[in-house]
Amino acid sequence: MKHKVTLIPGDGIGPEIVEATLRVIEAAGVEIEWDRHEAGMLAYEKCGNPVPDELLESVRTNKVALKGPTTTTVGKGFRSANVTLRQKLDLYTNLRPVRSIGGVHSRFEKVNLVIVRENTEDLYSGIEKLISPGVTQAIKVVTEKASLRIARWAFEYALKNNRQRVTLVHKANIMKISDGMFLDSFETVAKEYPDIKADNRIVDALCMNLVMDPCQYDILLLGNMFGDIVSDLAAGLVGGLGMVPGANIGDNCSVFEAVHGSALDIAGKNIANPTALIFSAVLMLRHLGENEAADDIWKAILVTISIGNNLTKDLGGNASTEEYTNQLVKEIQD
Ligand code: NAI
Repeated sequence: MKHKVTLIPGDGIGPEIVEATLRVIEAAGVEIEWDRHEAGMLAYEKCGNPVPDELLESVRTNKVALKGPTTTTVGKGFRSANVTLRQKLDLYTNLRPVRSIGGVHSRFEKVNLVIVRENTEDLYSGIEKLISPGVTQAIKVVTEKASLRIARWAFEYALKNNRQRVTLVHKANIMKISDGMFLDSFETVAKEYPDIKADNRIVDALCMNLVMDPCQYDILLLGNMFGDIVSDLAAGLVGGLGMVPGANIGDNCSVFEAVHGSALDIAGKNIANPTALIFSAVLMLRHLGENEAADDIWKAILVTISIGNNLTKDLGGNASTEEYTNQLVKEIQD
């Protein structure tokens, strides 16, 4: 069956790792008609809108998108294309599986965490202003509806994926009303799932626990801001940002993308690690029902990394993005 998927190559290392990912998907024998669209800086320069209507329409129609990272300027410029996409398409779940892979040098060997991040609210509300010279304000929005919805999603994921525990991460000792509601909603939903252990941690203590012993956690459920920060921390536990995939999931459509950004420091050098985006494509292929191809790609990555001859620089090797991808393609076709 031929699928139609929206493709957003992005910028920075985006086009390089997207190219690698398309080669690997093709080698696995999945037929996809790609509907290419620009987003972020490139779209903004072309039409003055980082998330053009045609892009939104394409994702709504195809229901699935694969996205490379997009740059957002710091402290000025247009609003993040990622935040806009997630909010406009109501992609309320950000799923980020964080797993140790044999052969990747890291401090821990058996990390198997799932990060579930609420993707539409919190300090990402976009309500931020200069009140008077020298005084600013940003508003953290937390609604009961979105809190109940993401908690239910996390418990359902636990059930379907044979996970035992969901830990809610918050700062309700300080933000008693907003994070307090996030926590209360979680506890309400937890009662509907008596077979799944539910507990909570204050975010600062969680960070300490994670760097000391990440294997003690199963599913972590976080709001948008803490979810963003803890995701990068967790990536550091399993070999870095080049290894962690992600999926933005809504009730009607999903956008698959790596956790990392556009990595401008290494863009255009053919040295970026495409694994995180390829793992995101594995999630996408499972979503499309292409489980055999997803398994083949997953195994090719495990074998290539465990042999260790053709790894990119971040994994301790000397291979280019292209050489690493050639090896994956070879493994899939063997
Ligand atoms: P970043 O994730 O792009 O890079 C952080 C560090 O990790 C850099 O040293 C980079 O070289 C390295 N790195 C990241 N991905 C890598 C890969 N695949 N292979 C090897 N090394 C990799 O974060 P940074 O530098 O803070 O952000 C750069 C831009 O990306 C910003 O404009 C930010 O807004 C944007 N961004 C976009 C995201 C998205 O489109 N989903 C997510 C995160 C950031």
